Amino acid sequence: MDEPIDDLADRFSQIADQYDDKHGSKEKPIYDACATLVIEHADPRPDDVVLDLGTGTGLIALALAGDAGHVVGRDISDGMIEQARSKAADGGIENVEFGYGEFRDPQYDGDVDVVVSNFALHHLPDEKKHEAIEAIADLGPRRFVLGDAMFFGSTDPEEPLFGHGIDAATVGMLVDVLTDVGFVVTAVERVHDQVGVLVAERVGGD
Ligand SMILES: C[S@@+](CC[C@H](N)C(=O)[O-])C[C@H]1O[C@@H](n2cnc3c(N)ncnc32)[C@H](O)[C@@H]1O
Repeated sequence: MDEPIDDLADRFSQIADQYDDKHGSKEKPIYDACATLVIEHADPRPDDVVLDLGTGTGLIALALAGDAGHVVGRDISDGMIEQARSKAADGGIENVEFGYGEFRDPQYDGDVDVVVSNFALHHLPDEKKHEAIEAIADLGPRRFVLGDAMFFGSTDPEEPLFGHGIDAATVGMLVDVLTDVGFVVTAVERVHDQVGVLVAERVGGD
């Protein structure tokens, strides 16, 4: 599956104002557990710049803003970005910025210390996941924390947890790509047989 990026962005914009309470009851505890692990493992320092790719309504970005120096949220959906900005304004959170950016081109020129992404990379087919992870490595972060749909077991489960728009990779494939681009995978958290969090640290990073 390789949905055109504009169609995907429109689809998210249409549900943006309901996104935060829209997750099905079957998925929500798993989604919450995954998000919590991404936030915990990101563990930014007070002067760190954190980049959240596929930030959506800013769940992860806003949660990290209290600990980080600056947080940059990037997404392809104007509607989701609008929700994230509105939440930041409502919360008086000033060290975050939200704007358009894709995995392959986050449109941020500054230094990045930590990259996070939660439940977004699965929208790309495997070949583009590889390109996306290469682009993330090129930003030079010391850590990349990826929470997403990913298969710990079968790649063709009889009862998929998620429906539309999911193109989950295997954990093995993701670990291989992360290793190929120069990260060391330091933690693998299994949230569900189809959901996990990978923590990747840059080789030689401090
Ligand atoms: C399921 S939402 C997750 C949002 C948020 N990270 C969270 O945990 O709530 C997936 C998000 O990824 C964004 N997205 C999909 N493909 C993308 C791409 N190629 N580059 C950047 N964002 C993308 C979508 O617009 C959407 O907001």
